[in-house]
Amino acid sequence: MKFREGQSAELTGKVKEWWNQNPFTYLMDNKKITPDWAFFRNIDRKIIKWMPWAQKGYPLLSNLIDYRSLKGKKVLDIAVGTGWSTEQFVRTGAEVTAIDLTPAAVELTKKRLELYGLGAQVLVADAQNLPFPDASFDFVLAFGCLMHMPDTERAIREIHRVLCPGGRASAMMYYKHSLHFWYYIFFGKGIVRGKLLHMSVQELTNRYTDGAYEEGNQLTKFYSKKEIRELFAPFASVHVRVFDVATAINHFPHRFLPLGMLIPPPIKRWLTTLVGQSLWIDVVK
Ligand SMILES: C[S@@+](CC[C@H](N)C(=O)[O-])C[C@H]1O[C@@H](n2cnc3c(N)ncnc32)[C@H](O)[C@@H]1O
Repeated sequence: MKFREGQSAELTGKVKEWWNQNPFTYLMDNKKITPDWAFFRNIDRKIIKWMPWAQKGYPLLSNLIDYRSLKGKKVLDIAVGTGWSTEQFVRTGAEVTAIDLTPAAVELTKKRLELYGLGAQVLVADAQNLPFPDASFDFVLAFGCLMHMPDTERAIREIHRVLCPGGRASAMMYYKHSLHFWYYIFFGKGIVRGKLLHMSVQELTNRYTDGAYEEGNQLTKFYSKKEIRELFAPFASVHVRVFDVATAINHFPHRFLPLGMLIPPPIKRWLTTLVGQSLWIDVVK
């Protein structure tokens, strides 16, 4: 979905306001945040539990990111939420800059680092207009955020601009040809529950993804692999993989009739690589 310049700025303002009110806490009660040791470690615990494809334990995302190669390197962590990814980069010995569109996320990330005596530059900034010179970073992470930005294409061009030649970036975005998008959202909510009669597909994905318990967020986009390759076309190499846990398959056709549980585990694991919800994208400039 493309937005005109003015529309994009207005929507970015709404996105900012929404995430500032509803920081992403992996379904912890974000109206009663006490940013202490237990709060941050509970988020880590959920990440380990919900995304076993990304790591077995600490460091988080260790199945996907080669932390050893980042020691002493300049890392930009985009849209940090509560700062869990930032913590991993700092602990690995990288020189880290972390940004988020919202003051709430920046405060939470600073608090997390302060609790553990860790240091990084953490600031409010818009990924669609990065406040850094060209070629300033060796590695950029954009986890679960590019699909919430009106001008995703521009944010990706910005990542390309701030990376050094040969620099790498990784991103997690949502996969359009997933069971989640086509079956649970489009078919289940849109057709069976009739929501498409008064909502667009874009409104459905905003409503039934992140922030579903808060009546949905302002913007969530899903992408096909082809669209991802087009978006990341400025990069020399683009590698895309699909990941997920088996929950959506187990709960097929409905969580009260979970016939998917009868599918043998190796077939389910293979199916998650075809119709899972998360796209992991690795690119080299
Ligand atoms: C789903 S949360 C993910 C947060 C974090 N990466 C995580 O996984 O916990 C999306 C985050 O993107 C941030 N965000 C949205 N648009 C942004 C933008 N244009 N620039 C920077 N951050 C943005 C939001 O403020 C929010 O913290």
